[in-house]
Amino acid sequence: MKEQLEQLAKDILVALDGVNTLAALETFEIERLGRKGEFNALLKGLGALAPEERAAVGARANVLKQEITAVVAAKRAVLESASLGALAETDRIDVTVPGTRPPEGHLHLTSQAISEITDIFRRIGFTRVRHPEVEWDWYAFEALNMPGDHPARDEWETFFMDAPVHSTLGKMVLTPHTSNGQIREMEKRELPIRMINISKTYRRQIDVSHVPMFHQFEGLLVDRDVSVTHLKGVLDYFARTFFGADRKTRLRPFHFRFTEPSFEVDISCGICGGTGKLSDGAKCRLCKQGWLELGGAGMVHPNVLRAGKIDPEKWGAFAFGWGVERTMMMKAGVQIDDIRELYRSDFRFLGQF
Ligand code: FA5
Repeated sequence: MKEQLEQLAKDILVALDGVNTLAALETFEIERLGRKGEFNALLKGLGALAPEERAAVGARANVLKQEITAVVAAKRAVLESASLGALAETDRIDVTVPGTRPPEGHLHLTSQAISEITDIFRRIGFTRVRHPEVEWDWYAFEALNMPGDHPARDEWETFFMDAPVHSTLGKMVLTPHTSNGQIREMEKRELPIRMINISKTYRRQIDVSHVPMFHQFEGLLVDRDVSVTHLKGVLDYFARTFFGADRKTRLRPFHFRFTEPSFEVDISCGICGGTGKLSDGAKCRLCKQGWLELGGAGMVHPNVLRAGKIDPEKWGAFAFGWGVERTMMMKAGVQIDDIRELYRSDFRFLGQF
């Protein structure tokens, strides 16, 4: 058996010489040296030998196997380096070819508008604040001069929470406007106030110009001797900075329970320049009469100041509240004719901005 073993080892080494690829070496190893290979098959006969002879032949078999394994490893190293060399010839990398950019996200259009609005008001001393989006009836309505049974509340098409009712603050609602922030800010007892409250707001509405979740920005200024002129000055400053130097605002008398007097704020149309007519004499399709409606504003009602524990004899205040999405959609160049597109999460649409 010893001779057989020596002969097999010689044969294996000779055959190994003719192996020229890594794949062939793999097969060779399995067939000759593997668990079910030729070498092991021969060693199965060891059991039939006398014990002393078995030990001597077993030891020699181990030495032979180690020798062959070392030659196989050396052969593998040679073949591997040859195949890498061949790869370098065929698969060269041209480092001067421009790369492919990975997909890159950006802020949503609404977030971009919120940053811009925050920054514009910061420059004239308004501090960005945040107040609850899930709110008590007291802050959303009652303290804003809208008692429980008042029909004015209907305008706010409110979502009510299925939650316990508070003994003094009433039901819980998803805040339908950012005006809740007026009372919450007054409660901080830090006068004067210049706040810009931007938050999500909710109403039970959906069509081309309404979504159930939208954003409002609410300005509140409380100080001594505040007049409508100050309000108009702030609104004009915002319109010029956000929309462009040639845009003007207009106050139209309106009614809100929490401001007196109250106004709707319009901005001159960016398409027809506030004339309502295009250069060829046709009617402007966007605004029809030269003006676009932005949102509400007014001088804060004395009852609201009282609810916020501020003496209306000593302090005056103005406030305004507009929709972020609608304001942004009126910016020149942003041609979105359906507000719902903003929240459909369609990257083909959002990627354009
Ligand atoms: C109010 O919510 C008042 N709180 C604004 C206010 C504040 C007046 C301070 C006076 C003083 P109004 O309901 O008109 O007002 O809403 C204001 C703006 O929110 C609208 O002009 C519009 O731009 C936006 N808006 C209202 N509902 C929706 C909606 N469902 N989807 C998108 N934007 C909306």
